Amino acid sequence: MHSDLREIMITEEQISDKVKELAERISSDYQGNSILMIGILKGAVIFLSDLVRNMTIPVYIDFMAVSSYGKASESSGVVQILKDLDQSIEGRHVLVVEDIVDTGLTLKYLLENLSTRKPSSLKICTLLDKPTRRKSDVVPDYNGFAIPDEFVVGYGLDYAEKYRNLREICVLKPEIYLK
Ligand code: IMP
Ligand code: MG
Repeated sequence: MHSDLREIMITEEQISDKVKELAERISSDYQGNSILMIGILKGAVIFLSDLVRNMTIPVYIDFMAVSSYGKASESSGVVQILKDLDQSIEGRHVLVVEDIVDTGLTLKYLLENLSTRKPSSLKICTLLDKPTRRKSDVVPDYNGFAIPDEFVVGYGLDYAEKYRNLREICVLKPEIYLK
């Protein structure tokens, strides 16, 4: 294990089991429809790509990139859209796919923005959830793992753009992000 990491929180096998379970639930909930899955760059890319390969209904994908101003490890709630969708979502069943919901401020902004574009339905799927940190009323419809308030990296999640390629969800040593 990399010396910047304290421990493995969620193993590769636990992640892949959960991804399959989520894909089955989503496929069955949207049975008879197609779904537009919107990955939030860059953290959700790996989760999204594993999720869609386990789906059994027609899937379309698109991406948005947002930045929330503030320190790298703390959300401010002031969100800027860096990359918008390529297509209209009017009349579509939209599922926003996130890596982690922390304060929920990023998602709150995104949902308000997307709901003005008249989708048929709009739901959230997140791999990780830190419920104790919530500062908005956002509740994910599909949630992989609820985790304690620790800064995690890997499987798409970064600190300062590093560690996204780790196959597990790992806890970063606090001295790395506090220094
Ligand atoms: P929120 O607006 O506070 O919910 O922040 C959500 C975003 O913050 C996520 O999409 C991540 O990019 C980032 N984030 C929050 N917690 C962590 C973490 O523990 N590790 C890596 N990124 C995180
Ligand atoms: Mg991030």
